[in-house]
Amino acid sequence: MSFDRVAVVGAGTMGNGIAQVFATSGRKVELIDVNGPALERAVATIGKSLGKLEVKGKVPPGTKDQALGQITTHQDLKAAKGCALAVEAVVESLDTKRSIFAQLAETCGEGAVLASNTSSISITELAHGVARPERVIGMHFMNPVPLMELVEVVRGVRTSDECVATIEQLSRDLGKTPVTVNDYPGFISNRVLMPMINEAIYCLMEGVADAKAIDTIMKLGMAHPMGPLTLADLIGLDVCLHIMEVLHSGLGDSKYRACPLLRNMVAAGKLGRKSGEGFYSYAR
Ligand SMILES: NC(=O)c1ccc[n+]([C@@H]2O[C@H](COP(=O)([O-])OP(=O)(O)OC[C@H]3O[C@@H](n4cnc5c(N)ncnc54)[C@H](O)[C@@H]3O)[C@@H](O)[C@H]2O)c1
Repeated sequence: MSFDRVAVVGAGTMGNGIAQVFATSGRKVELIDVNGPALERAVATIGKSLGKLEVKGKVPPGTKDQALGQITTHQDLKAAKGCALAVEAVVESLDTKRSIFAQLAETCGEGAVLASNTSSISITELAHGVARPERVIGMHFMNPVPLMELVEVVRGVRTSDECVATIEQLSRDLGKTPVTVNDYPGFISNRVLMPMINEAIYCLMEGVADAKAIDTIMKLGMAHPMGPLTLADLIGLDVCLHIMEVLHSGLGDSKYRACPLLRNMVAAGKLGRKSGEGFYSYAR
């Protein structure tokens, strides 16, 4: 499959990055979001991102205009009609994603691949009730999508070998490196990353060291590009809490219990960069 025309559903942080990568690769993109202003912001963000990449010489001159010309925005899922691939990147809610998958299964047609960018929701559960669940798959891009090389390809219990091979090849065609994993809570990326972030928050709560010291130790000592608390602020503390809850309930081991300080911060609305305050303060 060449996937000349793809639907990207959800135009937020991840959706606009995914749309940018597809459009830059020369594919037509139907970018769909229920929220009109989110679509406008997405197109502006893509333009800004490609403008910067052009100035830095990372993409050829003219890429920005060419890619923007490939993207059409819509508020109705029916715009996915006839697309051989839909990548869903809406809010992390099983109910919302399930309802979108049911609609996409009808709109895109039997032969289409239906992929989700979910960070933690089971691909097997998402596929449940979808006609031909063997074409449902996780295509987990990393943030920021245009810059990060990895695509974690998630194989649900019913996902076919053919579907996995197709999405691995597509990821390579997009200039990414696919790594395929089975469908268990948190996959690999978040199962390994989130407990480390959670442990850093325990260290802070217990007064082992302050936030800056914890981050500096992990940066300089482990060669991480940023410390775990800085990264938590970037991801969003509500997102981190949600993923810890998925790990705890899905794997049933107390080692995945969310740190009480993380719970308190989310309850207080301290969500990291997006709220202006998390483990650090951000000028807004
Ligand atoms: N943010 C990250 O770092 C990151 C990384 C990897 C994966 N993810 C996953 O990607 C997905 C999207 O995350 P995000 O950070 O881009 O979220 P976001 O909140 O930035 O964007 C979500 C978008 O979905 C739209 N939306 C909500 N309901 C919709 C519907 N019914 N139909 C169409 N659009 C709808 C919203 O209007 C919003 O624009 C989530 O599943 C998340 O777990 C996020």
